[in-house]
Amino acid sequence: MNKIPANVAPPAGPCCLVIFGASGDLTHRLLVPALYNLAAGGLLPDAFAIIGVARREMSNDAFRSDLAQALRRFAIRGIDERIIGRLLARATYVNGDADDPSTYERLDRELAQVERACATGGNRLFYLATSPSAFAPISRHLGRSSVAREEDGAWRRLIIEKPFGTDLASAQALNRELLGLLEEHQIYRIDHYLGKETVQNILVLRFANGLFEPIWNRDHIDHVQITVAETLTVGRRGRFYDATGALRDMVPNHLFQLFSLVAMEPPSRFEAHAVRSEKAEALDAVHVPSEADALRDSVRAQYVAARVGDNEVEDYRRTADVSPDSTTETYVALKLMIDNWRWAGVPFYLRTGKALKSKRTEVAIKFKQAPFAMFRDTPVDRLAQNFLVISIQPDECIGLQFSAKVPGPVIAISGVGMTFKYQDYFDAAPSTGYETLIYDCMIGDAILFQRADGVEAGWRVVQPFLDAWRGAGPNGLALYEAGSEGPNEADQLLARDGRRWRPIARPGAVS
Ligand SMILES: NC(=O)c1ccc[n+]([C@@H]2O[C@H](COP(=O)([O-])OP(=O)(O)OC[C@H]3O[C@@H](n4cnc5c(N)ncnc54)[C@H](OP(=O)(O)O)[C@@H]3O)[C@@H](O)[C@H]2O)c1
Repeated sequence: MNKIPANVAPPAGPCCLVIFGASGDLTHRLLVPALYNLAAGGLLPDAFAIIGVARREMSNDAFRSDLAQALRRFAIRGIDERIIGRLLARATYVNGDADDPSTYERLDRELAQVERACATGGNRLFYLATSPSAFAPISRHLGRSSVAREEDGAWRRLIIEKPFGTDLASAQALNRELLGLLEEHQIYRIDHYLGKETVQNILVLRFANGLFEPIWNRDHIDHVQITVAETLTVGRRGRFYDATGALRDMVPNHLFQLFSLVAMEPPSRFEAHAVRSEKAEALDAVHVPSEADALRDSVRAQYVAARVGDNEVEDYRRTADVSPDSTTETYVALKLMIDNWRWAGVPFYLRTGKALKSKRTEVAIKFKQAPFAMFRDTPVDRLAQNFLVISIQPDECIGLQFSAKVPGPVIAISGVGMTFKYQDYFDAAPSTGYETLIYDCMIGDAILFQRADGVEAGWRVVQPFLDAWRGAGPNGLALYEAGSEGPNEADQLLARDGRRWRPIARPGAVS
């Protein structure tokens, strides 16, 4: 089959990218490879520059060689030294603490010089890739100085990384702070899940096909399962993780992006305001549970020593920088109900965890069973289940599971699957997911970024679970073996409703 090439777009307009946290892991592993891919794809303007900011002392040359080294280590495509040379020739470095006003004076001078030399037209994109504790000080200094003030027709935009707050109150406080300094249209709250093609494709699948939308409701859908399973342990991120946990780390951002794309109403237009309003509305309609219901409808668990594949894994509590009596969850499962006409009575089951048996990210939509079986000897409960599976990892594909006749003289029925794999149809170069998001921000398209109300709606859903767990203390924390499918308590959450999780470890997307 001839593959369909990726579509093309013109380069973004002139601008200077200022990366706060330019010596960190995110910059090295994801941002620099993404910038390289944008450059290789002709999507960066000729009038482009990068200024890195961090505390450590570095010359411009040392900064460039640090980025080049990162690129050679983390590039996900074959690299062309000429493109690296051109990209990094435009990179300079400013050292300083995010909370020190003199950093911004130096940055201001550097910006003036770079803008003259590279003709970037005064357009500035500030990327906050530091630890979250520096988000508020950076925004405050940028907002108070002239560095981020839009003037003379030039734009100033700010990309802010996750996590956006640690609970509802802190997310609201950060939004208040940001919106006191910058306009909403300048703020791009990033969630890199939205840079993934399959995640964006949920909108196209639902709203560009006449096939699915008529059955996308409580009349036809039994329930929805959203899974983000990792085999990775907490590793060296013990300090961050023990203060955060699986719920805060994954649910208000990644899982809720998938949730809201599946649950939202059709937007009136495919543009940022309409799409983000519908996504926030879907989260806003989630039933807010009482404390007792939050405990009943959630499972939190921690992994204990066992093997994940070939690797021995020790107890979570023995991880470096994790408290030996930690009650932080490394696994969470939730049952959410949506109070609206489309979804009343349809449970959405969400689960995410570390050190599980297999790596898998998917949305599985289970359609209602046929009302009766007209085939002799085949009881209704033996018909194949109808699942539509949108798989994001390990494969980017969409699959449908249904019943078919087994060949032969008698009527026998078996479950079969049809699968569409991205790689079979489209010829797209590998990407980090950040390319689209950085490019979109450069061209001023906020459709794939979170708005203040969407972020707060997500935390409003999560907050009752955080409160109920705090109240319960260590009671109710379950355990699961590393390398397993998760805790038994998560199975019971669905068994109570007569349902079962799809296995995390299985050969195909729809099997
Ligand atoms: N790493 C990932 O894969 C990943 C993925 C998704 C999202 N994120 C998010 O991206 C952000 C950065 O994560 P990371 O993993 O890159 O962290 P990291 O490796 O610890 O890097 C943090 C960066 O911020 C700088 N920094 C820290 N405090 C600063 C301060 N007060 N003033 C100036 N610079 C400061 C550090 O450099 P100096 O120490 O030299 O100042 C370093 O360059 C976090 O919000 C994280 O949640 C990361």
